[in-house]
Amino acid sequence: MRAVVCRTLGEPEELDVVERDSAPCGPGQVRIRVWAAGVNYVDALFVQGRYQIKPPLPFVPGSELAGEITEVGADVGGRSSDTSDLAADDVMDAATPGWQVGDRVFASIGLGAFADEVLVPASVPVPIPANLSYGQAATMGQSYATAWFTLTRRTAVQPGDWVVVLGAAGGLGLATLDVARFLGANTIAVASSAERLRLCIERGAHQVVDYSAEDLKSRVRELTGGGAQIVVDPVGGPTTDAALRALGNGGRLMVLGFASGDIPDVAANQVLLRNRSVLGVDWGAWAMAEPEANRALMDEVLGCVESGDLRPVEPTGYALNDASSALRDLLERRVVGKACLTTG
Ligand SMILES: NC(=O)c1ccc[n+]([C@@H]2O[C@H](COP(=O)([O-])OP(=O)(O)OC[C@H]3O[C@@H](n4cnc5c(N)ncnc54)[C@H](OP(=O)(O)O)[C@@H]3O)[C@@H](O)[C@H]2O)c1
Repeated sequence: MRAVVCRTLGEPEELDVVERDSAPCGPGQVRIRVWAAGVNYVDALFVQGRYQIKPPLPFVPGSELAGEITEVGADVGGRSSDTSDLAADDVMDAATPGWQVGDRVFASIGLGAFADEVLVPASVPVPIPANLSYGQAATMGQSYATAWFTLTRRTAVQPGDWVVVLGAAGGLGLATLDVARFLGANTIAVASSAERLRLCIERGAHQVVDYSAEDLKSRVRELTGGGAQIVVDPVGGPTTDAALRALGNGGRLMVLGFASGDIPDVAANQVLLRNRSVLGVDWGAWAMAEPEANRALMDEVLGCVESGDLRPVEPTGYALNDASSALRDLLERRVVGKACLTTG
């Protein structure tokens, strides 16, 4: 099997693709044949050594994947084939960890997804809703969980609220637009080109702002009649200050990340004015500390995906051997929407 290996922290071009023997499937584990692995900004940060967690070298990057179970460990129960009289939650509660060869699953694993196969604890995979492709499933977990966590746990968006989404045509941005729309908010997508904003409109954004050409603060105030209720910011840099100033009374700036590479200082006087708040969002840390609560959150998200209320985007595919190009394109803002590595 192939795996993408990071031997030294640095640029994505230094990654190697190697052939490896498959490890045995141990007790409590399942083997997943990876058909698609999500390419996320955080994967690039790991490779460059810019993420707050620095794994020992060498490591296989890739934080999320979707595929098919090909082997179950000796003590991993199989699922009863007749579950017709059980609700979906009962099936999982009764059978976890219980998998059958051939089950379609996705998983968030932190590291290791850029490979033909992975071994994971049987408690980790989640069944893929029937209406999702492997590519959609491999790229929705982190972004939708984070967006849902942001808008329903770290703050509570209300129907009719104006939600401004920075980096709106990126992975997190598109998921946030989708979740905010579903929760009844009015959305303003902020991105750096007409092509990116077209995608945001296709994905249901109510208004768009090209912040490479328009003054963000004035335009948002104009569109919202005085100021937005919520800004979701995975970008950072100078845009954060403009977005903070675009918030109305009681407005909340949700700080998610710094894709611009620049961690901004927040002007405390602008927080004081209009009784604004600045709230940090770290879904990954919360999910690790609160696995049961995260599972409940994922159930809420997946219920909405299954019903068609949330619509994860179909990603652009790159071959596994082109992992470096995929990460480079992401870092240089050439990816519009989501990207994944495919192994077929
Ligand atoms: N806090 C959490 O729980 C959490 C969870 C997941 C991800 N994150 C973080 O959120 C950030 C965004 O993740 P993502 O998956 O949405 O990334 P992405 O798909 O690459 O999107 C990032 C967006 O940032 C904008 N951007 C502005 N300056 C940029 C630059 N110099 N380089 C690259 N992009 C730039 C781009 O849009 P424009 O060109 O339109 O500006 C791009 O679409 C990352 O820092 C990631 O680590 C945080």
